[in-house]
Amino acid sequence: MELRHAQKLQSIGRLASGIAHEINTPIQFIGDSLHFVRDALAALEPLIRAYQEVCAAAGAADASSLARVRTLELESDLDYVLENVPRACDRALTGIERVAGIVHAMRRFASPGSGEMVSTDLNEAIRTTLTVARNEYRYVAEIVLELAPLPAIACQAADVRQVLLSLVVNAADAIAAVTGTDRTGRIVVRSSHDGDGVSVSIADSGCGIPEEHRDHIFEPFFTTKDAARRMGYDLATARYIVERHRGRLSFDSTPGQGTTFTLWLPLDGTAAGSEAES
Ligand SMILES: Nc1ncnc2c1ncn2[C@@H]1O[C@H](COP(=O)(O)OP(=O)(O)OP(=O)(O)O)[C@@H](O)[C@H]1O
Ligand SMILES: [Mg+2]
Repeated sequence: MELRHAQKLQSIGRLASGIAHEINTPIQFIGDSLHFVRDALAALEPLIRAYQEVCAAAGAADASSLARVRTLELESDLDYVLENVPRACDRALTGIERVAGIVHAMRRFASPGSGEMVSTDLNEAIRTTLTVARNEYRYVAEIVLELAPLPAIACQAADVRQVLLSLVVNAADAIAAVTGTDRTGRIVVRSSHDGDGVSVSIADSGCGIPEEHRDHIFEPFFTTKDAARRMGYDLATARYIVERHRGRLSFDSTPGQGTTFTLWLPLDGTAAGSEAES
């Protein structure tokens, strides 16, 4: 239990710098857009004042004040501003949506969960996990999502998201081991309603798992990776969590081609052992 908790904190720590990075980009273009809007409005001010003067003079406006208005229109690049201010606002709003989405996913992900079985939309859990983990895979692979409509399942959602995270990070690691960070890999995430449960498969185009490792990958501390970065504990925890849900975690791998992990969870997880029992 302590290890599991430590591991969860570790994975949040590991994700945190990636998330800061993810948030930084939209924040930057929100800032740029707002600067543009502020400067554009400042540039329009003399023109608007001139309009006001002409309007106040109404029909009596003389030719020279109309000419001044026209000059100010040119000087303030009116057409350009009118075209680009709404665009800048749209960009800023898109950025804000992105930041809000990341923050929302992070809050969901980081919530400790009640330890109780709660009704969960697994597709939503997949999206949340992919959002918080984006920096872990974006340099190595594109994600292809094939999510089918799913019934809600009863599960310990925080733990299930932790399992999904482990599988996604492993997929990205396996791809990075072959192609490095040239973004040519593929991770296909599928979900389906499968009998009296739901399945999620995560298929990567990575290095595959050699025959001699297959019996060991679920063992605690078995790792083929740099020990400074990886602990070799994620799959052991994942299997433990899945078994507690009376689910299944299996894989199929072709060295040199890739690996598919398949997670199956029952619709009604109420039969699973509670924290206290285990
Ligand atoms: N998708 C995959 N493709 C190829 N090998 C994999 C894949 N997933 C797991 N493995 C193998 O299983 C081993 C154990 O995985 P596990 O996630 O438990 O540990 P890890 O990734 O090495 O470290 P960490 O506990 O930090 O995740 C990995 O080191 C790797 O050799
Ligand atoms: Mg791992």
